[in-house]
Amino acid sequence: MGSRFLPATKASPKEMMPIVDKPLIQYAVEEAVAAGITDMVFITGRNKRAIEDHFDKAYELEAELAARGKEELLRMVQEVIPKHVNCIYIRQTEALGLGHAVLCARPVVQDEPFAVILADDLIEGNLPIMKQMVDVYERHHCSILGVQDVPREQTSQYGIVSSTNLEPGVERVNGIVEKPNPEEAPSTLAVVGRYILSSRIFHHLAKVRAGAGGEIQLTDGIAELMQEEQLLAYRFNGIRYDCGSKLGYLQAQVAFGLRHPEVCEGFAEYLKGLK
Ligand code: G1P
Repeated sequence: MGSRFLPATKASPKEMMPIVDKPLIQYAVEEAVAAGITDMVFITGRNKRAIEDHFDKAYELEAELAARGKEELLRMVQEVIPKHVNCIYIRQTEALGLGHAVLCARPVVQDEPFAVILADDLIEGNLPIMKQMVDVYERHHCSILGVQDVPREQTSQYGIVSSTNLEPGVERVNGIVEKPNPEEAPSTLAVVGRYILSSRIFHHLAKVRAGAGGEIQLTDGIAELMQEEQLLAYRFNGIRYDCGSKLGYLQAQVAFGLRHPEVCEGFAEYLKGLK
């Protein structure tokens, strides 16, 4: 519901909040495209129609830009999503939790493995993070969670795994728990918003009951999946910005602003001048 960004998210979805000039959801789609994914399933809901509009053709805007000879802007608007990518929108009628949102994709995904990207976790890497995870998938053919170490006092904000090392950067997961208190957390290895999941997860999500926070948790479905199938965790190479928090969002603005071709110089100068 984006409640941490109210009132900004009162009438528009948090996924449409921009980092410099691109909404978070577009960074997520670009990451998926870079990983070779061609079918995007968006789980939306009331108040999230702007997401569909963003990836749709914008006739009036395009005609206007063409008439004014603004070729570069026109191209930018037309290239928001590559032509070969399919967009499928599914509305979740009630915000029952992340696990429930993923379960909403079952009729489309059916029995194929699939990836989940939570757009408010913005991750920058030399190689896009989902591409890194797909590469691990190609070797192991099982479900994979993107993970990173977090300070122990933050475990109650994440799914936390216990694991044994398999190979550099890859762990075999033997336990997962949603948002444990620091004193109960099995480790400090936290799941971030990147998953590759076997379709068997749907079977478990259909059965799990409301867990932490009264929500149907993806983590609880994954804990069941782990009893049946191999589950790996991948320590990605990259920097994660938690754009679901005000501080993380501001940090992302600064990092991306300092690299944006149009404003980087002026922005760097401005920051230097700040006391
Ligand atoms: C969700 C998941 C949690 C995961 C986190 C990553 O929590 O439930 O397991 O660690 O995303 O961002 P949320 O941030 O939606 O509360």
